[in-house]
Amino acid sequence: MGVRNRADGFGWVSRTIHWLMAAGIIGALILGTVIADMKVNLSNLWLFGLHKSAGIALLALFVLRLGWHRLTPPPAPIAEGTPEWQLALAAGVHRGLYLLMGLVPLTGWAASGASGLDVVVFGGVTLPPLAPVSEAWEKGLFALHWGLTRLLIGLLALHVAGALYRHFIKRDRSLRRIIGG
Ligand code: HEM
Ligand code: HEM
Repeated sequence: MGVRNRADGFGWVSRTIHWLMAAGIIGALILGTVIADMKVNLSNLWLFGLHKSAGIALLALFVLRLGWHRLTPPPAPIAEGTPEWQLALAAGVHRGLYLLMGLVPLTGWAASGASGLDVVVFGGVTLPPLAPVSEAWEKGLFALHWGLTRLLIGLLALHVAGALYRHFIKRDRSLRRIIGG
């Protein structure tokens, strides 16, 4: 399978982005949960920086993914033997995951700016704040960041359950074609 997606399979760029983002998002969910329980001090500040930088890198990958899929659209789902409602559910979950891959890092970025701290990506580029510095904005946006991550976890659970169902019970090629093309 080549670089671009084809009508019957994913090219390697889409497959690499899918798994890189899957690993990154699961890592960010774990690290985010760890830091949310911490009181910021000089010795753990780097973990906050790491979460923010990784989150912004995931946002960049997401933009790349959107652009790439515009240039070379992913294949249609394997519909053979799949009831209409399952296809609709899978498509809805994909759409929800797309929305959250954008909104989760954007709310993290906005909330961090509202706390008055600069968002510095990997010690280099400083991003502009997206929201005014205020305790109310900070609280509201972090609550939104938290809520959207719960939604993301719910959709991810459905997505993984669907993938495992197709692979082990229905036994079609959908998991194999996103891994190996
Ligand atoms: C896909 C990307 C991201 C994911 C999956 C993610 C996930 C999470 C999760 C699960 C939490 C814990 C929420 C809680 O239990 O209250 C969290 C907290 C946090 N996130 Fe993110 N995040 C992402 C991107 C970002 C970005 C881009 C930033 C900032 C530039 C950011 C800044 C923060 C901060 C500062 C906290 C700690 C909040 C606190 O102290 O209560 N996140 N994130
Ligand atoms: C946060 C993590 C993940 C996100 C955000 C995500 C998102 C997506 C999206 C949006 C698609 C549609 C194709 C595309 O546009 O790229 C897709 C396809 C797929 N994902 Fe995931 N995914 C994640 C993790 C996983 C995991 C852990 C598995 C396996 C257990 C998995 C299995 C699949 C499969 C099998 C397809 C291909 C479906 C087909 O053949 O049409 N994904 N994923």
